Amino acid sequence: MENLLVQLETILQALNLAGLFPKPQSLEVELGCGDASFLAEYARRQPQTNFIGVERLLGRIKKLDRKGRRAGLTNLRGVRIESAYFLQYLLPPHAAAALHIYFPDPWPKKKHRKHRLINEGFPTLALAALVAGGVVYLRTDDTDYFGQMTEVFGASREFQKVETPAELAEVLTDFERGFNAQGIPTLRAAYQIK
Ligand SMILES: C[S@@+](CC[C@H](N)C(=O)[O-])C[C@H]1O[C@@H](n2cnc3c(N)ncnc32)[C@H](O)[C@@H]1O
Repeated sequence: MENLLVQLETILQALNLAGLFPKPQSLEVELGCGDASFLAEYARRQPQTNFIGVERLLGRIKKLDRKGRRAGLTNLRGVRIESAYFLQYLLPPHAAAALHIYFPDPWPKKKHRKHRLINEGFPTLALAALVAGGVVYLRTDDTDYFGQMTEVFGASREFQKVETPAELAEVLTDFERGFNAQGIPTLRAAYQIK
């Protein structure tokens, strides 16, 4: 089975999605997928959907390749790049039915908050990335960041709050399992294009 990590020939042109997957199916993207614990399992459970995991650390995205190949998944690919750049330049417009963003780096210091992925500009990026009716799924353990997430999406006229389906919520991420084991509460929210 071929390597599941996309070898980018250029980062100046959007991906040719049709060439990435054997089946032309609906696409979902996880930004900051870490070791792909969530994505490999979710892709296994949802063979009728194609998935791309985006992660900037090579050591972690290599685990997506390992897990996906071990499970024989043909609906999973990984891209090693920065998440916002991926949305802005590599994902063709209105290509994803869902964006999954789980435990993004919280940047707890006030002076570092500008580095947070979910900021005032994010709903606009998400709007351009998602198909009509597309959904952004969020999870975090950081109450301040959760407040920022709900604030920016709450302020957006284009999105409405929706429930996370149980079959999605039950698939845990690596960090989520760690927080659960330590008894640290986690928060989740989902926003759908109206
Ligand atoms: C706290 S970990 C969570 C990983 C995984 N989502 C989970 O819940 O187990 C955050 C992950 O996002 C990656 N990451 C952080 N900022 C990123 C960015 N701007 N672009 C791509 N990956 C990023 C980190 O390398 C790390 O693997």
